[in-house]
Amino acid sequence: MTSQLAENLDPQTLLAWHVAMGVDEAVDETPVDRFSAPAPEAPATKGALSARVSSQSQKPALKPVAAKPVQPVEGAGQAAAEQAAAACNTLEELEAALGAFDGGNLKRQAKNTVFADGVPGAPLMIVGEAPGADEDREGKPFVGVSGQLLDRMLNAAGFDRTENAYISNIVPWRPLGNRTPDQAIITMCLPFIRRHIELAKPKVVLMLGGVPAKALLGSEDGITRLRGKWRELEIGGQKIAALPAYHPAYLLRQPHLKGFAWRDLLSVKEKLAQ
Ligand code: URA
Repeated sequence: MTSQLAENLDPQTLLAWHVAMGVDEAVDETPVDRFSAPAPEAPATKGALSARVSSQSQKPALKPVAAKPVQPVEGAGQAAAEQAAAACNTLEELEAALGAFDGGNLKRQAKNTVFADGVPGAPLMIVGEAPGADEDREGKPFVGVSGQLLDRMLNAAGFDRTENAYISNIVPWRPLGNRTPDQAIITMCLPFIRRHIELAKPKVVLMLGGVPAKALLGSEDGITRLRGKWRELEIGGQKIAALPAYHPAYLLRQPHLKGFAWRDLLSVKEKLAQ
């Protein structure tokens, strides 16, 4: 958006536009290390200097503190996740097991465990990355801006989460600051989503973005290389057709790639018709 256009919009419209484009943080063009950069001091006049000295002498000096790790994993880990997931024989049991699982700080700081939405047992299961703020608040996957784009894309291709699609995520808790979930969290959550797929029994799994594609396929390749190529997931002794595709949040930032997403959805349709 040009600055001239931006100037002509009222702040609410401008904010809505940024939200629709996937902006969720206010950042400057140049990164600033606020732990090391001292506040710039204005050149002092004689009067201002004595005022500053007297106000400084009244305030206790701030001591630097070491940054804390953002999301340390204190959960029971992958072995416990394997055990808990394997003990479940229905999706209801799995949801309850996930709700009772110690997911460490990530879970403690989340408002909800976001399990799934849509039609359990639908032929198409969609797996995303992790809930964002909207999903955390509502307890359902893909209900924010990228979820709205996902719904529009699904509807255009003849799918609907209320009729023939089921949606979940690799990680069921919102990563702090909407970061990409770290590898330890993904590894811990993997047994749950694998069991989730096994119990939901979809004919096709659509993996949205690099995080679910890499985690489920055990691949190091990025999504640009992976997308559009059919793979198989071996889960519970079954082989399930799986397609990596771009994440809708990425498509909001890179709208010129929407054609690939369309092709991938048509490919899913074809696969389901076989
Ligand atoms: N992005 C995801 O990957 N999953 C959601 O549920 C929402 C946004």
